[in-house]
Amino acid sequence: MKATGIFLLLSLALCCYQGIAEANRAAGRGREPSCDNFNLSRGCTRDFEPICGTDDVLYSNECLLCLHNRQRGASVRIKHRGMCQNPNARSTN
Ligand SMILES: *[C@@H]1O[C@H](CO)[C@@H](O)[C@H](O)[C@H]1NC(C)=O
Repeated sequence: MKATGIFLLLSLALCCYQGIAEANRAAGRGREPSCDNFNLSRGCTRDFEPICGTDDVLYSNECLLCLHNRQRGASVRIKHRGMCQNPNARSTN
């Protein structure tokens, strides 16, 4: 009885999570940054490999985008590599 309830809840969560992921893709919300590649406790290099975030802010590199997400509890994704076409006034750091 209880197990069934948990199973139902789980499949519900799974369904909706996939639904949201689908919606994000459909809306062209960019791709997930590979934050596992960085040890954010150690900080980021200042390498300039510009990335335009889905918030239209230019990040000097992917690591800084990950750091921003962690520090602000944000979930900015990668819109595309390179400069933003319509940059947001807000600065990166
Ligand atoms: C990340 O860096 C910190 C500080 O240098 C270190 O203590 C920690 O073990 C590192 N974590 C990983 C997963 O490498």
